[in-house]
Order: sequence, then structure tokens, then C-alpha cells
Amino acid sequence: MDTQCFDVIIVGTGAAGLTIALALAEQTEHHPDTRPPKIALISKGNIANGSTLYAQGGIAAVMDETNDSIQSHIEDTLNAGAGLCHPDAVHYTIEHGRQAIEWLIKQGVTFSREENREDYHLTREGGHSQRRVIHAADATGKALSRGLIDRLEEHKNIKVFDHYLAVDLIMSPDNKKQCIGLYLLDTRNNQVMDVPAKYTVLATGGASKVYLYTSNPDTSTGDGIAMAWRAGCRVANMEFNQFHPTCLYHPKAKSFLITEALRGEGAKLKLPDGTPFMHKFDSREELAPRDIVARAIDYEMKRTGSDYVHLDITHKSADFIKEHFPTIYERCLSYGIDITREPIPVVPAAHYTCGGIMTDLNGQTDIDNLFAIGETAFTGLHGANRMASNSLLECIVFGKAAAKVIKEGLSRYECEPMLPPWDDSRVTGSEEEVVITHNWDELRRFMWNYVGIVRKNKRLLLARQRVNLLKREVDDYYRQYLINGDLIELRNLVTVAELIINSAMQRKESRGLHYTLDYPYTDDKNFLKDTVLVPPEKL
Ligand code: FAD
Ligand code: SIN
Repeated sequence: MDTQCFDVIIVGTGAAGLTIALALAEQTEHHPDTRPPKIALISKGNIANGSTLYAQGGIAAVMDETNDSIQSHIEDTLNAGAGLCHPDAVHYTIEHGRQAIEWLIKQGVTFSREENREDYHLTREGGHSQRRVIHAADATGKALSRGLIDRLEEHKNIKVFDHYLAVDLIMSPDNKKQCIGLYLLDTRNNQVMDVPAKYTVLATGGASKVYLYTSNPDTSTGDGIAMAWRAGCRVANMEFNQFHPTCLYHPKAKSFLITEALRGEGAKLKLPDGTPFMHKFDSREELAPRDIVARAIDYEMKRTGSDYVHLDITHKSADFIKEHFPTIYERCLSYGIDITREPIPVVPAAHYTCGGIMTDLNGQTDIDNLFAIGETAFTGLHGANRMASNSLLECIVFGKAAAKVIKEGLSRYECEPMLPPWDDSRVTGSEEEVVITHNWDELRRFMWNYVGIVRKNKRLLLARQRVNLLKREVDDYYRQYLINGDLIELRNLVTVAELIINSAMQRKESRGLHYTLDYPYTDDKNFLKDTVLVPPEKL
């Protein structure tokens, strides 16, 4: 890798990373006198490997102003967020919704249209009072990734580096308040290099791999959150991890989501004996916000001893199902389930990290020249529960906002010519890789059992004891041996687990995605506020 200075180094090639890269390049085109910024776009695996690629349902935005309104989208988002959304972030994101979709269309992203009409087909998901989710059948993420990645070709100033894993941020030695670059691990040969940059953007996605069962791909290990925390950024609302109610339950299906849009089209949740149950939990039934639906399923599974519940869309015609949900139809069929004729066995799984690195409305973090965009960031949009399909929107809106600010600031900074080189002179190769695999498994298992959909003080305490132990072991290992990708991800997951547990222990009430049997009620008097964690050295 050519490690001369980059103007901007962007870690992550999902919706957030691709948007900011393209928006930075695009703004230069509007100012032909300025030199195009030199941009590095980093992915720890293939270029399309994050959650974005797997997004199904779509992107929420008000496209039909006759039947819908910005105000209605704002109200639905605030309702789902259970009192903790930041109104400025909600207004900002939703007011820029249509613009964001139009920008995507301009980049070449294609969305499904109404049959025989020019209008886009809008679907509905939980928490939305209107049909406002624009989508590309049931593979919106694929269409979005493909559209934006194809566009990169046009910008010679954007260099893509795949299979490079960001290990840690490098801070300016004089004031420690400014980020001046990154340490990157080349995962093909395990060499670490230091890469200077005027601006660094973390667009590393969420942390749902901290749980044993998740809808997320392997990339979601909270690397950005852990790196930013170690460097001195505040992190907020980590107790609000969203569990998607419906992932396919099948021994051979790893992390396959069954989109909420099925419920938007009338699919019913039923016990394996065919009894519907959502009416017992919420008047919106299957279209209640996700926290309510996931808890209802969890409750019914525990009550009946069943390993799954059913999701039934057989009331729709086979043609409709195949046209609107082709990916799900094909995938289920490959496991022997014909969703046009039989219900789908489903279970909840960890899906989305509502908390993250605290930023302002431009993605600026607590550290100068460090931005965070997308699922890794905490902008205040989602509150205690993200409403379906608001996250891709957040990636695009904040990616564009950050690009504008960075572009304006570029001429004010010089690259640091000499960064402290990575020092591995005192470590050796490990012959005990089993320590890493064992601890990965143990961490994800106790997080699922002790810090899952329904929580209790006692279980949180047990989780804290275990995470403290793992932290010591992993830190020792990190200090003694040469690093590799698995070790770095485990180290980050341990940090994220600790942040989740500590946040959950601070919130002595139930709200949104955080439900605890010890405090089953919402306590506005004491807890109508974010859980903000401050790194120890900043206290
Ligand atoms: P990601 O798309 O996850 O990308 C993260 C990137 O960071 C990857 O390129 C990864 O390689 C890179 N990376 C991470 N760590 C490092 C590191 N240390 N070094 C180098 N690179 C690194 N949201 C919606 O709004 N609508 C939907 O329909 C929808 N459906 C979903 C379906 C599924 C199955 C899943 C899992 C999520 C869905 N979501 C949906 C949520 C949404 O997809 C994500 O929140 C969003 O895609 C996150 O985008 P991102 O750019 O922040 O991160
Ligand atoms: C889904 O399609 O159900 C996922 C939508 C989301 O997570 O926003």
C-alpha cells in the first residue's frame, strides 16, 4: 500500500463510507480550481462485505407527499425512539430524506416501481404509520452497494484498499486531541503500517457480532466504536441493541433475515400450532416497533418452550411473493421451505447498534479531524429504538453532511510527515490461537444469555465479571503476541461488550430496546436522558 499522506482516509465501504467518498469527490467537481482530495477507502474484507450489502427492506423517506408528510415520518421516528431521540437529528435526517434518495438515484441506484407505473413502489415496516419505504425488491442493500461501487470507477482520486483492517487511531503527539492517521493491518500478510491522513472517517458499521445470534455479517465487530473509545471519544446509549424479530430458523441458515416488509404486506406471526399472538401485546400487532415484536416472540418462545415461531405470508398470491421477495423466496426454497405455501420458522437475532461514537450533525466526533458516520455513530436519531429503514437514510444524509465540512477544512491542515511506527519488536508469534477462538465463543454466548432481549441485574453482574476476566486475558495476549485480524476483532468486541454491560447497568428502568425484569417500568423522572460513557482518562 502506498502510505503517503491521504487527505481523507475512510474506514468502511458500506453505505456510509461509499457516500462520504463519492460526496467528497463530487463536491470537488463543482469547484474545478481545487485539487481533488486524495481519498483512501478501506475495507477489512472484500469491498462489499458489511451490513449494507444484506439490507433487505429499504430506505425510509417521504417520497409521496399526497399521502405522507415529513411531520408524520418525524412523529413515527420519535415514537419508536421512546423519548430519547434528539429532535434536531430527527428533523435534520428526515428533512433531507428525499434529497438523499434522489442523490442515490443520480448515482445509478435503481429502486422497484409500481406495476406498469412510473411511481416508485413504497412498502411499509414496523413503527411507520404510512407506506414510505423505497426499496429494490427485497435486496435494497445489494442495489445500493452495486450502484455506489460502480460509481467509484469514475473517481481516480479514490483509492480502494480491501483486506486492510484498521487497528487503532494515531493521535497528534503534542495535544492528543487531533487524529493524524491510522495503523492498518494488511490481513494477507499480517504486517502493520502507519498511514497519515488529514482527516479520518470511521464508517465501520455496528457491533451485533457481540451476540451469538445475529442477522449481521462477520464485519460487525464494533471496531470503530472500540478504536474511538481508546482514543478518547465519548460513546452513548450502548444498552440499546436492537434485536430483529424475524431471522430464519434453520440449522443450515447462518444470519439470514426475513424482512419486516413481509409483515408490512400483512404476514402474521403465529405459534407453531397456528395460533396468532401479536394482538395480545400491541394494538398495532405485527407492525408494532421492533422492540415490542421481538420481546413478544421471546416471551412466547419461553412460555411454550418452542425453538421458533412462524411467520406466515401465504395469504398473498405466489406471484406477488415471488415478485416482491425473490431473494427470500429462493433462499427459503433452497432449505426446503416454500413460503408461498407454508409458514417460515423465525427467531429474533441481534441486528442493529443504536448507540455508538457521539457526533454532531456533521459526523464530527470529540476528537479533531475524526468523523464517524453510519451505524458506528451515535447522532441521536434513533433514541431507544431505531425505526426500520431509518439507518440507511442516516448513512446517506450524514455522509453527505460530513463530506461538506471536511471539504471546507482540507486546506487548513498539513499531513504529519512522521508518525510513530508500529512497534512489534517485543512480541512473538502465538502457538495458542485456541485462546482467541474460545474467548470469541464465550463472549458471544454470555452476551446472548445475560445481556439479551430481556435483562436482569443478576445476569448483568455475571456478564460484567466475565467480561473483566476476558479483558485481562485478551490484553495480555495482545501485549505478548503478533496481532492478526481475529485478535483485533476480539479485542474490540470485548471493549464493546463492556460498554454495553456498563450502559445497561446504569439504566435502572425499561425503555425501548432495554428491558429489565428488575425495573420493568419507564422512569422519565430519572432516565429521560442518554447514557453517556466518558473514557477513563477524560474523567
Ligand atoms: P456497514 O455496511 O456494516 O459497513 C461497514 C464497513 O466497515 C465494511 O466495509 C467493513 O469491512 C468495514 N470495517 C469495519 N471495521 C473495519 C476495520 N477495523 N478496518 C477496516 N474496515 C472495517 N437498514 C435500513 O435502513 N434498511 C434495511 O432494509 C436494512 N436491512 C438490513 C438487513 C440486514 C440483514 C442487516 C444486517 C442490516 C439491515 N439494515 C437495514 C441496517 C443497515 O444495513 C446498516 O445499519 C447499514 O448498512 C450500516 O452501514 P454502514 O456503512 O454504517 O456499515
Ligand atoms: C428489514 O428489512 O426488516 C430490515 C430493515 C431495517 O433493519 O431497517
